[in-house]
Amino acid sequence: MPTPEHLILRELTAREPGWVSGATLASKLGVSRVTVWLHMNKLRSAGFVFAAQRARGYRIIGRPSQPYAPLIETQLKVRPRGFSLVTLDETDSTNDEAERQLAAGRVTPFAVVARRQTHGRGRLGRVWHSEPNGNLYLSVAFRPRTAPEQMGAFTLWMGLNLCELLANFAQVTPGLKWPNDLLLGGRKLGGILTEARIDSDQIRDLVFGLGLNINSPAGGWPPEVARTAVSLAEVTGTALDFNRLTAAVLGRILLAYDNFSDGTYTQTFADLWHRFDVLRGKRITLIEGGRRHPGTVTGLDDEGALLLRDAHGRTHRFRAGEVTIEKKE
Ligand code: BTN
Repeated sequence: MPTPEHLILRELTAREPGWVSGATLASKLGVSRVTVWLHMNKLRSAGFVFAAQRARGYRIIGRPSQPYAPLIETQLKVRPRGFSLVTLDETDSTNDEAERQLAAGRVTPFAVVARRQTHGRGRLGRVWHSEPNGNLYLSVAFRPRTAPEQMGAFTLWMGLNLCELLANFAQVTPGLKWPNDLLLGGRKLGGILTEARIDSDQIRDLVFGLGLNINSPAGGWPPEVARTAVSLAEVTGTALDFNRLTAAVLGRILLAYDNFSDGTYTQTFADLWHRFDVLRGKRITLIEGGRRHPGTVTGLDDEGALLLRDAHGRTHRFRAGEVTIEKKE
């Protein structure tokens, strides 16, 4: 249900960088100009800056740099039936919050975005540093009809879609490091944590979690990740519009989910894989269950498992593991 803030933002963003008169806004909302002015103040307190002129009306000259649901929703180009968005100032983990909402019966798909996580989680029980620093902490919940064996391919497909989106949005050249790392210039730009509850041989529900380093400043990282992490702003040299990028990311996730569900993803998966995979032909060490497996990456199987050729020419298949790329001698 659109609020007056949604309606105002719809008008203003559609005309950006142009002006929209107070009279137009009042008639779209069916309220007085004084009431429009009150709503504009509400938007100002959410972080918007408007130029206002008696003769011309309003135009946006500054946007919130933190998650703001009406702005994300207004800019979302894909909106499946029943979709809803929750934005929070702080939560333990958006994946955990999404799981709680699933357990409470919330209609899917829905998304949770937080400005800050107190217990952000990565794969293998790692911490995902989640300061309120302009980075994205997002989880999207689904109730898919997918076999659990497809989870690996699903995560890769989503990662590839995010790489393509970021390449277009920010004019950068990201890569996907199997199974869940988004890289930029060899550093970690983002990570994916897909978690599912499984009943016998069927996925009951699934949470797709994404941490994406958008606007954190260089030098702002905790010491543990200072050498390995990077944000889009560090590379492009300019702050990105957080809510516009979040809407684009979310739209792409919702679309890519549909392509995965109806099977059409197979038409473009290989092309995207060749474009964004950073491991092809690389000598790596894969650690799985405490064992080290050195080898050369030869590709993927249909379920998204990594194929690794060992020193004896034998190929092994891994559905999970931690990959380190070996330095060239
Ligand atoms: C990884 O690279 O290990 C995956 C990191 C996933 C982090 C995101 S941030 C949003 C969501 N909530 C979490 O607690 N984790 C994921």
